[in-house]
Amino acid sequence: MRIFAAVGDSGLMNLVLLGPPGAGKGTQGDLLSERCKVPKYATGDILRDAVRRGTPLGREAKRFMDAGELVPDAVMMGVAREALHAAAARNGFVLDGFPRTVTQAEGLAELLQERQAVLDAVVYFAVPEEELVRRLSGRRVCRDCGAICNIAADGPEGGVETCGTCGGRLEIRDDDRPETVRNRLRVYRENTEPLLNWYRESSVALHQLDAVGTVEEVYERLLDRVGCS
Ligand code: AP5
Repeated sequence: MRIFAAVGDSGLMNLVLLGPPGAGKGTQGDLLSERCKVPKYATGDILRDAVRRGTPLGREAKRFMDAGELVPDAVMMGVAREALHAAAARNGFVLDGFPRTVTQAEGLAELLQERQAVLDAVVYFAVPEEELVRRLSGRRVCRDCGAICNIAADGPEGGVETCGTCGGRLEIRDDDRPETVRNRLRVYRENTEPLLNWYRESSVALHQLDAVGTVEEVYERLLDRVGCS
């Protein structure tokens, strides 16, 4: 049953994907962005790109990211403002990894109000912690095209070494090392989980998505929620 139509008659969809590290927000966000033809803005990707290019933002963010800590809210509001002011975001957007604190959620509401836009829904990806650790320890990212895969799951016997999309070299994300993962999960519980209650008490629709299962199964459930066809 379709219980929510984020892409309504207007054809617009303003969506936030919320959930712990490794829950599959990036994987599903890419699929959704392509299918619904709306841009996905992943703050983690934006920051990693800035780190790679050695920009002032990247230099500022790197030490927080390497430690699995959150980049300060004031910095992240600048990142979000720039993304959402892009012309492409006028016809809808999928936000992955933002907001991550109540301060950021308040800032996002103000940003949208300035643009006379609203958030249609927040989708919360529910995954047990042991599954998150399993996914993060097997995650690889293509250095060339940015595709995400998992060495535990992809390929006939697992253990893929090259990108299934472009054949490029796969890398482990710096913050997927076990000690950093532990801290990211703690930071998530302390700073981001409280957002669930914040959104529950707001006027924005909050949908809990069972994000355990194959990528295809989770995608089906997600489409059922957001109604993009
Ligand atoms: P960010 O890049 O946003 O990391 P994250 O939120 O921790 O999320 P991940 O990218 O780790 O996981 P995901 O849910 O996207 O899962 P994925 O699809 O990759 O942030 C990184 C850092 O940047 C933060 O720690 C912070 O320092 C900083 N930052 C970013 N935004 C910020 C903000 N707003 N405020 C402050 N700081 C900020 O999947 C994971 C793995 O699982 C992959 O291998 C994938 O192939 C696999 N997988 C996916 N789905 C399934 C499935 N259904 N079954 C099995 N495996 C699956």
